[in-house]
Amino acid sequence: MGRKKAYKKKEVVKFPNVFSADKENLLNDIYKYFGSRNGITLEIGCGDGDYTIALAQRFPDRNFIGVDIKSDRIYQGSSTALEKELSNAAFVTGRFQLIFEQFKEKKVDEIIIPFPDPHVRRKSAPRRLISNEFLEVYKTILVPGGTVHFKTDNDDLFEFGIENLEKQNGEIFHINRDVHAGKEKTVMEEITTRYERHYVQEGRTINYVCFRFA
Ligand SMILES: C[S@@+](CC[C@H](N)C(=O)[O-])C[C@H]1O[C@@H](n2cnc3c(N)ncnc32)[C@H](O)[C@@H]1O
Repeated sequence: MGRKKAYKKKEVVKFPNVFSADKENLLNDIYKYFGSRNGITLEIGCGDGDYTIALAQRFPDRNFIGVDIKSDRIYQGSSTALEKELSNAAFVTGRFQLIFEQFKEKKVDEIIIPFPDPHVRRKSAPRRLISNEFLEVYKTILVPGGTVHFKTDNDDLFEFGIENLEKQNGEIFHINRDVHAGKEKTVMEEITTRYERHYVQEGRTINYVCFRFA
């Protein structure tokens, strides 16, 4: 591991806005940090937390939680949130599968899945964050009518997600197979992530869909 990465991993656990997924009563601690019970948006596989940061700035009366396995990536978003004094943005280091049970009681309003790993091998399909298995979980933690936003450069993964959400009675609100084609954008389309900026530079087309469960 590089020295920079090791430094970030060591430092990030000391941040007041970063919580470990294996912590007991994780949600209570996060609520204490927020100081409010405002509605929650979850960014799963948040990387640098681009959505969490951008949305927390735009919507101060809502709460945002970014989750990622890689704590060195969480370092970026959590330090930016502290610099910008965003008390409505928190981060969890660890696998989403470790924490979702806690959201079954206090549900979330919105889930964002930006550029999830494609896990291309067919046998790894259940690990895709847009697999049937994950969609079933999202249903259990969303408020009625709660929305899911999914963005990817990977056309096969996008179609896989669309097929699954149709199987799961997903209702599509908005679908765009070329987000950067110059049309007017929604807030969710407009915000870009680190991976997205990289893919756009490479000339790749970005897909986006917003849906809810019937
Ligand atoms: C391709 S990266 C995209 C990062 C960021 N969303 C972006 O667009 O810049 C996918 C991220 O998802 C995280 N990830 C994958 N599976 C996860 C899981 N089950 N729970 C939490 N994070 C996960 C990875 O660690 C990685 O940072």
